[in-house]
Amino acid sequence: MQVIRRIDELRAAIRKARAGNSALRVGFVPTMGYLHEGHASLLRAAREQCDVVVLSIFVNPLQFGPNEDLSRYPRDEQRDLALAEKEQADIVFLPGVDEMYPSPTKTVVSVSGVTERLCGASRPGHFDGVATVVMKLFNMVQPDAAFFGQKDAQQVAVIEQMAADLNMPVQIVPCPIVREQDGLAMSSRNVYLEPEQRQQALVLSASLKMAERLVAEARGQMDAGELHKAILEQIRQSPMADVDYIEIVAYPALQPVTEIREGMSILIALAVKFGKTRLIDNTIIRL
Ligand code: PAF
Repeated sequence: MQVIRRIDELRAAIRKARAGNSALRVGFVPTMGYLHEGHASLLRAAREQCDVVVLSIFVNPLQFGPNEDLSRYPRDEQRDLALAEKEQADIVFLPGVDEMYPSPTKTVVSVSGVTERLCGASRPGHFDGVATVVMKLFNMVQPDAAFFGQKDAQQVAVIEQMAADLNMPVQIVPCPIVREQDGLAMSSRNVYLEPEQRQQALVLSASLKMAERLVAEARGQMDAGELHKAILEQIRQSPMADVDYIEIVAYPALQPVTEIREGMSILIALAVKFGKTRLIDNTIIRL
């Protein structure tokens, strides 16, 4: 496994891997590090589908708002490298901020439509930061396929839109959410949770399960407002939960729905704070 910190070295390593083999598939897993089983599942999917696997670890300042957790975002390079090695990554790209942004960027990639609601509304500028850094990383790695976790379902929609609109020759591969045994969706931010907050955070996956059951019982006809109310009531039973949003939207367009009907695909997405820690979770229901 090669550990590379400079863009020119990354390009050279990928050029060398591709030399003489035009059919070689490069798979890319972009991350912000503090890797967990969710990231491991992305690396395994890339390993299965591609010949060369590139992992990037970069905590991207551009996607954090002024009062967000950039300075305390968890980092552990040694542990990340051990996980990357175990999952057989070929190249780990670990650039510093100066390498990625040698001067303040004057070019920003901004995707409209799918960014209007959910995290796009509650974290202004977040998806501009994500789209810009992913575009930069795609330009550096030039992957054939890139792997993203469905826990950030809106991020997947944003990257898919960007890749389609800008004719980027990369296949975007969404991968299922990976959960702890008790249902909590894996996230690098789970490490912030105090034990009691960690316990109460189970309400996210529990309320999504309840929503799935209610939709199934309704047999293809349900008022989205009623479903929203049922989810809110369940989350409010956890006194530490501070709801940022509960959204029921058509998937993948991410536009609000009022009536849930047979034939629709809907995304139920939650963002809830426990103390200073904001967690997201979601489920996609295909009726
Ligand atoms: O999902 C993440 O970890 C980040 O948003 C990403 C895609 C690596 C861009 O910084």
